[in-house]
Amino acid sequence: MTVRHFLTLKDLSKDELQIVLQRGIELKKRQKDGEIYEPLKNQTLAMIFEKSSTRTRLSFEIGMTQLGGHAIFLSPRDSQLGRGEPIEDSARVISSMADAIMIRTFGHEIIENMAEYSKVPIINALTDDFHPCQLLADMQTYYEHRGSIAGKTVAWIGDGNNMCHSYINAAEQYDFKLRIACPEGYDPNPELVEQHADRVEIVRNSKDAAANADLIVTDVWASMGQEEEQRLREKAFADYQVNEELMACAKDTALFMHCLPAHRGEEVTAEVIDGKQSVIWDEAENRLHAQKALLEFLMAKS
Ligand code: CP
Ligand code: NVA
Repeated sequence: MTVRHFLTLKDLSKDELQIVLQRGIELKKRQKDGEIYEPLKNQTLAMIFEKSSTRTRLSFEIGMTQLGGHAIFLSPRDSQLGRGEPIEDSARVISSMADAIMIRTFGHEIIENMAEYSKVPIINALTDDFHPCQLLADMQTYYEHRGSIAGKTVAWIGDGNNMCHSYINAAEQYDFKLRIACPEGYDPNPELVEQHADRVEIVRNSKDAAANADLIVTDVWASMGQEEEQRLREKAFADYQVNEELMACAKDTALFMHCLPAHRGEEVTAEVIDGKQSVIWDEAENRLHAQKALLEFLMAKS
């Protein structure tokens, strides 16, 4: 059997993504009902974090526990990865023992390289280019609140970053229209936009993106690794804050999402992120349920 990886949303078919979404909802219900379900008994997920994390680490580690398996946290500081052991060698060694590998790192090519040398599934837990696991949670959250996202309009406000790229892939995989409002110089990858030109539109005015939208999404202005650009970015993104005025351009039924962590007063106001349309806490919790469905999909033996 060939090994399945999850490096981007494109690694699963549209049908498979729908199966994972429904399964996430089902597993959430079963866990809340107190049911014990352990399809990954005796299996181990190796988790490599080269960047900080709260939600991703918690959700994968707790997810493995709930599924009857185990998770191991590896950071460059206390593994040989930090002392320059090649990623190819690490992939061979870790995959000879672990049943799957989750990795959060910088360049996307690092996880592609890892996938090439790994005998077990590689899961992208965020790279500079993509954050597909967050989209599993976001799509489940939208479905739980509003039903299918197919045919809806999503407005991405802010940086053309890893989250934005995963929303571009999601537009294709979950069948919605995506309007991206970003300042010049902070566009998403033009090749990716071009590949999805039928669904994705870039505008400069955030109100044009938000007009009549069903979902408004934003993210930090400076991602991990861009800390020194914070000041510069605050200036560049000053007109791209999600506030009540912007939310008023969207449909009354529109939801607000943010992958977190957030900076209130920067990319989003406290009124919006803590307001009625915001579903950020469900979104964060659904990292657990959606990823349990993904882990089961990639790792369960039968
Ligand atoms: N949204 C997200 O990935 O959060 P963490 O960085 O805390 O894992
Ligand atoms: N774009 C952010 C997402 C954090 C979950 C970052 O890469 O830091």
